[in-house]
Amino acid sequence: MKILFWLPQADATAWLDGLSRALPGAELRAWQPGDTAPADYAVVWHPPRELFATQPDLCAVFNLGAGVDAILALERESPGTLPRDALLVRLEDSGMAPQMAEYVQHAVLRYLRRFDEYTLQQARREWHVLAPHPLETFTVGVLGLGVLGAHVARAVASLGVPVRGFSRSAKTLDGIETFSGELRGPQFDAFLADVKVLVNLLPATPDTENVLDARTFGKLPSGAYLVNVARGAHLVEQDLVDALANGTLSAATLDVFNHEPLADDHPFWREPRITITPHSSALTLREEAISQVADKIEALARGETVSGIVNTARGY
Ligand code: NAP
Ligand code: GLV
Repeated sequence: MKILFWLPQADATAWLDGLSRALPGAELRAWQPGDTAPADYAVVWHPPRELFATQPDLCAVFNLGAGVDAILALERESPGTLPRDALLVRLEDSGMAPQMAEYVQHAVLRYLRRFDEYTLQQARREWHVLAPHPLETFTVGVLGLGVLGAHVARAVASLGVPVRGFSRSAKTLDGIETFSGELRGPQFDAFLADVKVLVNLLPATPDTENVLDARTFGKLPSGAYLVNVARGAHLVEQDLVDALANGTLSAATLDVFNHEPLADDHPFWREPRITITPHSSALTLREEAISQVADKIEALARGETVSGIVNTARGY
C-alpha cells in the first residue's frame, strides 16, 4: 500500500517514522511538488491542490485535523479537485477534546470570576472588589454538539454553571439543555436567550459562515461573552468590534482568525477586551493522530467501514 504525506511547516520525519512503525507494510513518502507517482492513501493537512492532480485512484484522504474546511475549499473553488471516489476522513478527538475542554473551562472561569476585569484594573493600579457573577445564571451556550462540542459542554457543566447546546439534528445529553434546528431560526434564537458565554464549536461550512454576527450577538443578554475556538470564518470581525464598543458584548476570547497568523496591524491586538491565542486551543497530537489514522487505513484495506467520514455535500 502506498501512502502520501503532507504537513506544511513541520518536520515530516517524525510523522513518517511513526506512520511506518504503525503500518510496517506500507510504502510512505512525503509528497513534494512534481511527485506524480500513484498512491492509495493521502495523510494531509492543508494540502496544495497540485497534490491531488495526478491521484485519481486514492481510496481515502485523511485530514490531520477535525475541520475539513481547507480541503473542501479546494473542491468548492475548482470542482473535481478531490478524486471522485476517495473518502475524506477527519480526525475524531484523537486527544483534542480534553485540550478544548481545558481551554473553554479556563475562559468560562475567567469571565465568571471577572479575572478579565481584574487584569484591566491592574493595568490602572486600581483596587476594587467585583462581585462574581452568580453561578446559577451564568449560562454557557455551546454552538455545535459534535465530538468536541459535546465533550466541552459536559466539561463546562462540571463547573456548576447551566449549559445548553445547539446542533443541526436533535441530541440528548445528560445535564445539558439541547436545542436544534437552523442557524438564525426560532430554535437558535431561543438557545441564545440567557446565554452569558457563547462558545463556538461549529465546523466552517457555507451554512455556518458569519454566524457570529451582530444579529446573533443581539439575541444574547447584554454584556455577554464570546469564545470562538472553531474557525475565523464564523466571525464577522467588525460586528465584534461594534458589539464591544456598544456593550452588547463584554469581552471575547479568540483562538481562530480569518487570516492566520493575525496581521501585525489588526485592530484586535489593540483591544484589551479581546484575548488572542494562536490557533492553539486543541493541537493535533502526533502519536494519537497516527494511531487513529493507521487503524482506519488498516480497516479500509480489509474492506471495513470507518467512522469520521466527511459528508462532503454537507461540508463536515
Ligand atoms: P463535528 O463532530 O463534525 O461536530 C459538528 C457539530 O456542529 C455537530 O453537532 C453538528 O450538528 C453541528 N453543526 C454543523 N453544521 C451546523 C448547522 N448548520 N447548524 C447547526 N449545527 C451545525 O466536529 P468536531 O470534531 O466537534 O469539530 C468542530 C470544529 O472545531 C471543527 O470543524 C474545527 O473547525 C474546530 N476545531 C478547532 C480547533 C482549534 O484548535 N481551534 C481544533 C479542532 C477543531 P449535527 O450533530 O446535528 O450534525
Ligand atoms: C484544527 O483547527 C482542527 O480542525 O483540527
